[in-house]
Amino acid sequence: MNTVAEPVLADAALCEMLCEFGLDVEYVRAEGNTLYRRAEDGREVAVTDFACGFGSLIFGHNNPEILARAKEILDARVPVHTQLARHSHTNDLAVALNKIIRREFGTDEDYHALFGNTGAEAVEIVIKHAEFSRRQRISESLHGIEAGIDSARSAVRDRGAVIAADAYDLARVSAGDRVPGPAGYEALVAAVRRHNEERAGRPPLFLTLEGAFHGKLVSSIQLTHNEMFRTPFKALSAQARFVPADRPDVLAKVVEDERDSLLQIVVAGREIQIVERDFPVFGAFFVEPIRGEAGIRPLTAEFAREIEKVCDALGCPLVCDEIQSGMGRSGAFFAASHIGLRGDYIVLAKSLGGGIAKTGIVLVRKSRYRHEVELIHSSTFGKDAFSSLIARKVIEMLEAGGGRAYRLAEERGARLRAALEAVRADFPDVVKDVRGRGLMLGLEFHDQSDSASAVIRAQSLNGVIGFGIAGYLLNEHGIRTFSTASAMYTLRFEPSVHVTDDEIAALEAALRGTCEVLRRQDERGFAAA
Ligand code: F0G
Repeated sequence: MNTVAEPVLADAALCEMLCEFGLDVEYVRAEGNTLYRRAEDGREVAVTDFACGFGSLIFGHNNPEILARAKEILDARVPVHTQLARHSHTNDLAVALNKIIRREFGTDEDYHALFGNTGAEAVEIVIKHAEFSRRQRISESLHGIEAGIDSARSAVRDRGAVIAADAYDLARVSAGDRVPGPAGYEALVAAVRRHNEERAGRPPLFLTLEGAFHGKLVSSIQLTHNEMFRTPFKALSAQARFVPADRPDVLAKVVEDERDSLLQIVVAGREIQIVERDFPVFGAFFVEPIRGEAGIRPLTAEFAREIEKVCDALGCPLVCDEIQSGMGRSGAFFAASHIGLRGDYIVLAKSLGGGIAKTGIVLVRKSRYRHEVELIHSSTFGKDAFSSLIARKVIEMLEAGGGRAYRLAEERGARLRAALEAVRADFPDVVKDVRGRGLMLGLEFHDQSDSASAVIRAQSLNGVIGFGIAGYLLNEHGIRTFSTASAMYTLRFEPSVHVTDDEIAALEAALRGTCEVLRRQDERGFAAA
């Protein structure tokens, strides 16, 4: 028997942090909303899971129907990886998703599908696709501008057209170059090209909301608001402007501040003039219909309309990131359908993998779709048959019985929400808010940074109170959940549609216990046992 301890070569720092809060638990089995940890005497101890794979388990852990389908796929020796071949499994999936889009958004426009492996990867695909399309728009504009330069040159040379006084100003031609005739015109052309080339070389700017979370890869991290995750990598990728939700005035100001234009030379009668053409500054506007990491905050229908207005005015594509809110969690397949917000792009991942596969899908509205991207973007594992067939099974289960799962999400969500509201009603001094929709709910505590408990105060000031509370819920009450990544006082609850009344009652009791500790300003606070 080997008695020498193995070195910790995976997650050493993370485990040290988890250990501090009593969260360094290994789970050995999982079913539905229950995880099992092993006690010292070898017995399995049940933990009720409200984090549920960070919202990726709409049908729970190891759902028997999904496992049966997985076994069937494996037993049938389905070829899992057949890159550069025809895949009916990906098309079936795209067709099934399109049927739901039609129903929930009342549209008959098709959406094309692109495939990745994770949520962040799918977001990166959107960023690439949107930039490809923005580049094409810029090229087309520059092409038109060049054609105009040639015809204006003939007007100067052959018809004696003169350059309007303000044309030089608009193109910032230096005083010495403002000479009559062809020489002055060439100086104007050089200045216009300089201006346009400088604009064309700029990276896109993305719009998203404060508190947004769109992933942690090189580009998607720049759309994720949390500075700790984002700022070290700023130099690597295009940037985003983060707009506060429900502030159309700020949104309008951001758009105005960033507005830019290309210069175009035109002939008007016998005059050479400069006109400004809108430059596509923005790559896309990313929104989560329910902002998860911001503290489970549903987008209002009013602000959704403002976002649509801005996107329409700019010709900027709208991206609905439904990675967490989609797949039925809100009570409909797409959370955006509750507020009538139809994205030009829709991004899915998490629950689409049924808790056992990893997949990410981007759906792109036909009128925005660039087929070329299929030939220049690829991934070895994206589109694999196993993940696609499991995703197809998840959709089949969601749609079964005329959408029984959506009704369950709504009904179970209402039951869970009522429990959270009951806690708030009894602890208004401790609980600030209950938010969310369906089975994507959050409970926010009041700021605890002036608590009389030194432990609670320190955990609050250090930004780790969420871990303190999570450790307490786990070790005292056998409940697993966490605070959201960018709103530490908000606990997230994202169980499967099969969450039971008993599980909800256990959560309610645990939350009451948490509120007691916070109310008492208990000196020990949430220090790990
Ligand atoms: N978009 C949203 C809305 C997300 O919630 C997440 C992940 C991602 C994108 C990235 O997906 O992890 O598959 O690369 N949210 C995790 C969470 C981190 O805590 O819910 P990924």
